[in-house]
Amino acid sequence: MPKLIIDGKEIEVEDGLTVMQACELSGVEIPRFCYHERLAIAGNCRMCLVEVEKSPKPVASCAMSVSEGMVVHTSSEKVKKAREGVMEFLLINHPLDCPICDEAGECDLQDQAFKYGRPSSKFHENKRSVEDKDIGPLIQTKMTRCIHCTRCVRFSTDVAGIEEMGAIGRGEHVEITTYLEQGLKSELSGNMIDLCPVGALTSKPYAFKARSWELKKTDSIDVLDAVGSNIRVDSRGLEVMRILPRLNEDINEEWISDKIRFSYDGLKLQRLDRPYLRKNGKLIEVTFAEAFEAIAAKMNKLDSSKIGAIAGTLCDLESLYAVKRLMQTVGSHNIDANQFNYEFDVSARANYLFNTQINNIDKADLCLLVGANPRAVAPILNARIGKAVRSGKMQVARIGVSDDQTYKIKELGEDPSVLLEIMEGKHEFCELLSKAKKPMIIIGGSVYLREDSLAIQSIAYQVLKKYNATCGDWNGFNILHNHASMVGSLDIGFTPGQKGYSAKQMLDLAIKKEFGLLYLLGSDEIDLSRCSDCFIVYQGHHGDRSAVYADIILPGAAFTEKDGLYINLEGRLQKAYRAVPPPGQAKEDWQIILDLATVMNKDLGFRNLSTLREQLMKELPPSDSEVHFASNNKIIKSNLAKVPINFY
Ligand code: SF4
Ligand code: SF4
Ligand code: FES
Repeated sequence: MPKLIIDGKEIEVEDGLTVMQACELSGVEIPRFCYHERLAIAGNCRMCLVEVEKSPKPVASCAMSVSEGMVVHTSSEKVKKAREGVMEFLLINHPLDCPICDEAGECDLQDQAFKYGRPSSKFHENKRSVEDKDIGPLIQTKMTRCIHCTRCVRFSTDVAGIEEMGAIGRGEHVEITTYLEQGLKSELSGNMIDLCPVGALTSKPYAFKARSWELKKTDSIDVLDAVGSNIRVDSRGLEVMRILPRLNEDINEEWISDKIRFSYDGLKLQRLDRPYLRKNGKLIEVTFAEAFEAIAAKMNKLDSSKIGAIAGTLCDLESLYAVKRLMQTVGSHNIDANQFNYEFDVSARANYLFNTQINNIDKADLCLLVGANPRAVAPILNARIGKAVRSGKMQVARIGVSDDQTYKIKELGEDPSVLLEIMEGKHEFCELLSKAKKPMIIIGGSVYLREDSLAIQSIAYQVLKKYNATCGDWNGFNILHNHASMVGSLDIGFTPGQKGYSAKQMLDLAIKKEFGLLYLLGSDEIDLSRCSDCFIVYQGHHGDRSAVYADIILPGAAFTEKDGLYINLEGRLQKAYRAVPPPGQAKEDWQIILDLATVMNKDLGFRNLSTLREQLMKELPPSDSEVHFASNNKIIKSNLAKVPINFY
């Protein structure tokens, strides 16, 4: 542990730290542009210069390691002059764009020029201008503002895993580009906007829409996949203006997928903002009271076995719990959030979780993907795997259809019975498994749809057990869910159980005209076209597929418009907050269900959000279960199918 003196203060730090990190530990802030904690060190902007005694010139503190006895000065006259010089050089060619620049107000260059720059410049020559590049519909470029820090280049190579950005030219002619000016293909490309310390890369949909200081910032959770990335929703008035990542080392670090980042425009379109009732084949506007009366009248006429509820992919725990309670009070066991008819064994919580935990992926040394495409289903989790592979710590193999991945994968074929060969020690992969200290298996969507899904999951677990990958604090068994509400609905018991019908069974009965009422909570992935005789109540926020077939529409709130709890694929409970109010007469979903229950004279056991949360917390399962499969089924010898995924 070397000891050094920073600005007269002695500090002892870990070996291998950089001078910049040591300065931060001693409470001294060092300006920087190119340095970023999660990217490789480039050392090219020189903004972090400090004075080190016995060194003839100022040194780049981000690129120099600490050593015993070092004496560092960060605010000497020499350092001040060096910073002023660097800043002056950076600004020689920088345009005077601040008044029209989307980065203004949150621009590193603006802030640091103010703090460390000189008020005047010696340069009077014309500024260089660089042509803007068209790199797709998501990122706007203003390349004259680029300071060549190469953060975007390092991000695309090291984190996104696709070498899309690079620098061409030399000296004064250097330019950052996608080489052939193609659109970016990475599903994480929007993170470059956050990384760019200036306004060279900005959000195209957000261009000239708002200034950063006008925005209200609200903490929320990404509901467009099951990872539960932490996000910040920036709003102005009633409108969501942009979505940014929030730091969470355990889940998304500081990245988010492009899907959630650019999803907010959908919050303004095709919204359901008032209740509707179908009369003579046409949906007409009604009041909530009229809609509730119509639902109550219908439910009271029906046998409870002919009433059921199906939940969608974006639901918060509170609304799931409220619908579950409503169905219980009318005597129905027909509840399901599994619209895709996936096969999971819910007898133990660990059977359907990503048990390794996202922040432990870096510790794994071998990963076997079984019918899983993490790049499409969970890009943030995939970036962690990619990081581990590129650092040389992890190898990845796959059973399933090969796809466009961002790291190297060893293909083991498409037939899941390879798992049996591995189990019996007859496959070459066994050698890698026996050498691995922390192997993990990730089971994905191509498996859940199969008849032998539980058999594949069970054999995968036995393989891990055989190779000691499920002992102590390591559990390598992982289910890769693709929807935000999946784990929450399983945890909360939004499942048909033994007495009820599954979503598929309810739909089959509805097609046969043997089902009376379907209550859809944001459920849009089912085909209702042949359920013409069933009374359909659709509660949701968008006039999507299911709303078209509804007899009654109840307008709910989107995730940015309500406080909500979500459980991610690792079983982590997280809270999202309301950023803006729902449009028109739309209300928070649990409130709609409570109001309906009041009209029906049913007691759901809660009166407000806090009592609802108290109740639902009591129903969540303990988090310390072990994987346990009851299935003795056999794996069917046939290739895993490719599940078509439309990322956006
Ligand atoms: Fe101003 Fe920063 Fe934009 Fe440059 S990048 S014009 S300094 S706000
Ligand atoms: Fe750095 Fe932005 Fe230029 Fe990329 S575009 S090199 S992130 S300044
Ligand atoms: Fe050190 Fe750029 S931050 S050289």
